[in-house]
Amino acid sequence: MTQVTALIKGVHGYVPADVLSNAELEKMVDTNDQWIKTRTGISERRVLKGKGLGTSDLAAEAVKGLLKKTQTEASEIDLLICATVTPDMQFPATANIICDKTGIYNIPSFDLGAACSGFIYALSVGKQFVENGTYKKVIVVGADKMSSIVDYTDRATCVLFGDGAGAVLLEAGDGTYGIKDILLRSDGRGRHHLHQKAGGSVKPASIETVQNREHFIYQEGATVFKFAVTKMADLSAEIMERNQLQSEDIAWLVPHQANKRIIDATAKRMGLPAEKVMLNIGRYGNTTAATIPLCLWEWEPQLNKGDNIILAAVGGGFTWAAAYLKWGSS
Ligand code: UT7
Repeated sequence: MTQVTALIKGVHGYVPADVLSNAELEKMVDTNDQWIKTRTGISERRVLKGKGLGTSDLAAEAVKGLLKKTQTEASEIDLLICATVTPDMQFPATANIICDKTGIYNIPSFDLGAACSGFIYALSVGKQFVENGTYKKVIVVGADKMSSIVDYTDRATCVLFGDGAGAVLLEAGDGTYGIKDILLRSDGRGRHHLHQKAGGSVKPASIETVQNREHFIYQEGATVFKFAVTKMADLSAEIMERNQLQSEDIAWLVPHQANKRIIDATAKRMGLPAEKVMLNIGRYGNTTAATIPLCLWEWEPQLNKGDNIILAAVGGGFTWAAAYLKWGSS
């Protein structure tokens, strides 16, 4: 029996046009370009402006582009999964709304929450459905409008995040190329260090939660940094070892873009030079579930069939994840 491996047939990304530069943030909070660049690697980020626009609008642009470039009809899609921490609303799922905005109907679609590791988590779910033969064409989206939950009076977090979306189309491959391995982890004890305090069932929205600014991102940066730097490097090393990959076998590392210092540490642990690391944090900041597909989209023209690629992420939860792909398109 031929082994089937889910394969990324195409990738597309979308970032909104409006740029929020470090210089503009200097006017909003007590910060400076040099601190932001040296501590995070970020120069600017994109923000989605416009009344009534949300995460689904970013995602719909990515999905429309993906359908076009892969010459796929909306009616051919069997499943759509959206990883996000900034859903359009509590319900329905943002995936349902993306489907409506892209003309995809009568298929299963749902959201998945694993914060910054969300894209790899969603990829693992899509992979199962393709490999067990349930579905032929699966879209996995990572999308976040982080500007909707960023407190632009908090210098410790407002410099970090941006808005964006990326989407991939998964189809069955013959086992030679595709998503070879995925490792997923979580540790709920870390939930206290990175979260949104209000707006869920524990603390629904009230005048007090709004006055206390509890609908914004809360992050204990240094604690999250220590966890992220260790776990992203550890899991990347583990997935290399499990798959008998040496540094020289790896063509690309696609790291979650939270902080350039975390990315550098991961690359160092993997023995990879900077030129093998996809890095766009300087231009987009941390777009949460979108960072990895946005990198794949931007670097796609440079990818060659057979390239060994490692994806790695750490995020709220805590969650962390790594994937090993053998690129299947030329
Ligand atoms: O994607 C989800 C996972 N998230 C992450 O992986 C993020 C992990 N954390 C980080 O990337 C870093 O911890 C931050 C970039 C958030 C912060 O960098 P840091 O080097 O850990 O800084 P810190 O929080 O320890 O703060 C150092 C100093 C403090 O001042 P004092 O107390 O030493 O006087 C902060 O108040 O830097 C100050 N500071 C700032 N200064 C200028 C914090 N934010 C800013 C700012 N501009 N924007």
